[in-house]
Amino acid sequence: MVACPTIETARLTLRPFHEGDLDAYFAVLDTAPVRAALHTPDTFDRGGAWEQMAMWLGQWALRGTGQWALVERETDRLVGRAGLHQPERPGWPGIEVGWALHPDHWGRGFATEAGQAAVDYGFDELGVDQLCSVILPENVSSQAVARRLGFELRERRVLSHFPDQPHGIWWKTRPISEPVG
Ligand SMILES: CC(C)(COP(=O)(O)OP(=O)(O)OC[C@H]1O[C@@H](n2cnc3c(N)ncnc32)[C@H](O)[C@@H]1OP(=O)(O)O)[C@@H](O)C(=O)NCCC(=O)NCCS
Repeated sequence: MVACPTIETARLTLRPFHEGDLDAYFAVLDTAPVRAALHTPDTFDRGGAWEQMAMWLGQWALRGTGQWALVERETDRLVGRAGLHQPERPGWPGIEVGWALHPDHWGRGFATEAGQAAVDYGFDELGVDQLCSVILPENVSSQAVARRLGFELRERRVLSHFPDQPHGIWWKTRPISEPVG
């Protein structure tokens, strides 16, 4: 059984991580701006990136949620990750939509494109009524993606994986479907 579906958007293929993605995925996470935005510890290395890929695949298998590898179809390059995250952490608010791109691909709308596919998957395939996005107050680029996707900031919470400061919890409620006919 393939737990992680493959989805095509206008420019991207959202697909399960493969073993062969490791160098490209580590390259995304190892750039200075991504390390800074995600507060990645200095000890995080290639092995940590492999563990993340395994975690994403495992989360799809265990929970039916996870993040996809984002591949730009025109170049066949892995440009980042995005999708749905539901970690086993006390106080975690719900099913989160998240994103991270290699800085070479910022400013092209890829996070919003993949984020929209993740939102649609959450509402249409998982059937949930609410999705969240967990974003630090300083991360204005990520907040802009959330806003473009129709999320709104409704609360701040200190989360167990990052006790230093509260995260903003952005929420999006499933749109009420139009009556047919
Ligand atoms: C957060 C992050 C993914 C946002 O990336 P981004 O490139 O700014 O976001 P998008 O992919 O949605 O692109 C939007 C930008 O592309 C532009 N754009 C260009 N072509 C576009 C298109 N076809 N469609 C939509 N937007 C397009 C938009 O105008 C916007 O530009 P602006 O930032 O100047 O307003 C990126 O900064 C990142 O990876 N940060 C590090 C990891 C991180 O912080 N993750 C989130 C943790 S909460």
